[in-house]
Amino acid sequence: CGIVGYIGEQDATPIILNGLKRLEYRGYDSAGLAVMQDGKIEIRREAGKLSKLASLIENQPVSGKMGIGHTRWATHGEPSARNAHPHLSSNGDFVVVHNGIVENFLELKEELSAEGVIFRSDTDTETIVHLVERYYSSSSGLVEASRKALKQLKGAHGIVIMSSREPDKIIAARIGNAGGVVIGFGDSEMFIASDIPAILEHTRRVIFLESGQMAIVTQHNVQVQTLNGETILPQIHTISWDPVAAEKGEYRHFMQKEIHEQVRSLTDTLAGRVDFDEGRIHLDTLNLTAEKARKIEKIIVTACGTAAHAGMVGKVLIERIAKIPVEVDIASEFRYRDPLVNPNTVVLAISQSGETADTLAAMEEARKKGAMLWSIVNAIGSQAMRLADGCISMQVGPEIGVASTKAFTAPLVDLYMLAVLLGDLRGELSATERKRLVADLSLIPDLAGKCLDREEEVKKVAYALKDTHNALYLGRGINMPIAYEGALKLKEISYIHAEAYPAGEMKHGPIALVDKNMPVIAITPRDPWYDKMISQVEQVKARGGIVVVVATDGDEKARELADYVLWIPETPWLLSPVITVIPLQILAYHIATLRGLDVDQPRNLAKSVTVE
Ligand code: G6P
Repeated sequence: CGIVGYIGEQDATPIILNGLKRLEYRGYDSAGLAVMQDGKIEIRREAGKLSKLASLIENQPVSGKMGIGHTRWATHGEPSARNAHPHLSSNGDFVVVHNGIVENFLELKEELSAEGVIFRSDTDTETIVHLVERYYSSSSGLVEASRKALKQLKGAHGIVIMSSREPDKIIAARIGNAGGVVIGFGDSEMFIASDIPAILEHTRRVIFLESGQMAIVTQHNVQVQTLNGETILPQIHTISWDPVAAEKGEYRHFMQKEIHEQVRSLTDTLAGRVDFDEGRIHLDTLNLTAEKARKIEKIIVTACGTAAHAGMVGKVLIERIAKIPVEVDIASEFRYRDPLVNPNTVVLAISQSGETADTLAAMEEARKKGAMLWSIVNAIGSQAMRLADGCISMQVGPEIGVASTKAFTAPLVDLYMLAVLLGDLRGELSATERKRLVADLSLIPDLAGKCLDREEEVKKVAYALKDTHNALYLGRGINMPIAYEGALKLKEISYIHAEAYPAGEMKHGPIALVDKNMPVIAITPRDPWYDKMISQVEQVKARGGIVVVVATDGDEKARELADYVLWIPETPWLLSPVITVIPLQILAYHIATLRGLDVDQPRNLAKSVTVE
């Protein structure tokens, strides 16, 4: 879910609506806002997308100098206007928006109901605002009442509270990992948000709340405290992201824009980290020394979704280049499995948002067990960045489309650079090998550009596949994870059932599915698994399947065998996943748009999942 808050001299309504618009990717099944109008809290809420809330406000305008808003991804209670945030207390004097789940919600609800409180929604959030109202009469004011209420809550939360009794302040709090809370400094105005893009057009100076902290935000000031009331001196960060980067510009969808941004994002990924003259990699933010690198016995990559697929490619890269054993562990599994790690294990989390609850919990588990903790993260200042001992920051700017694209290819390159650095520090690479590996990096942005130039050709294949009900993606070796990622892209945004398999496993089951209605998308670049892949494609062909291959320019064999070819330029094989995935991103995008679907906001999904 997304949160926005404002206090200052301007009208809060358009600022909040605009901010929510930029966070709509966080959740979009309902939305609402509360504004302090003439000393009273006025609320507008609506089910469905934000545009519905905007029309409601057009018909029933509301304005004031402070307010809070929310765009929701339902956890408790169906998406509807009555379950949309903000939620009001019984006397109408307190209002709250919330990310996370109140785990002791039933207990608190029972307690409050016994005291006579009538609940007006099915949400867990409503308990919070009733608690604030309950404590207000026995407290010195809103700060103390909020603190008392916050202390009652189990689970992880991002919370913003406002009250007509004290219309000079907004309270914001972060407990655990349910998404970030960012406070932005303006000129005689302050902004609150769950994510930076919501406030980027107003300010670049921000602070991030840590877990267990609350902020008292007034028009000119912010005071940060722990939940025990101790004052904290927050660090002010300046965000370098360009606000224009969070706009769609000439593109129809953010996803399309972000696919096309990959030349730029891959260039930025290399900038300042690769010394092409010396053939060396610099990842200074990891603080790695030869001694530390030699101590590493095992690396466990932990992540969710697309980021986990990047980790699967990382396994091949790091094992090949740095000769360190690597496991890839889905974060929601790692966190509960009592994993075997010790101080010589590196746990490496990968996350675009840096706020995925499962990934953060996996990191905390690793920390508890004494592992070295690294992360590869896009969102600046996010928890996954702050929790780690060392972090590689993805240089891709804000990613808004729910289906991740540029935040997939960048970590592939980061993992490659990490592998070369580790291989170098551990003495696993000859100078010639090292220099060749580093030199190959320089080719990548241009090769990505060549794939993008072929969008029209890919679109034709999309047209041919748009009405299919199923698709099977096959890959092997370093491109096996690309089969998974290609299938995920397709199912996320087109709702076509797509399955991925390591191609060698096809004969152990999925081949039974192959008939003339089953498109099989095989990733067959010129890598060490090429011959094996081609023979797998032959088996599919022999059973009448429709074959699409991702193949290298000039590959006549692939042209003969396949019904459709997605051509890619010749690429050094260790970097080939960065390139093979691009036509698959474009394919999924066009299939979904040809089916008339909303690519940036696919049903049931959210960009960052800050609940379990
Ligand atoms: C959600 C998104 C996916 C993403 C995953 C992990 O499920 O829809 O696109 O890959 O979360 O997100 P993260 O921010 O940790 O990379």
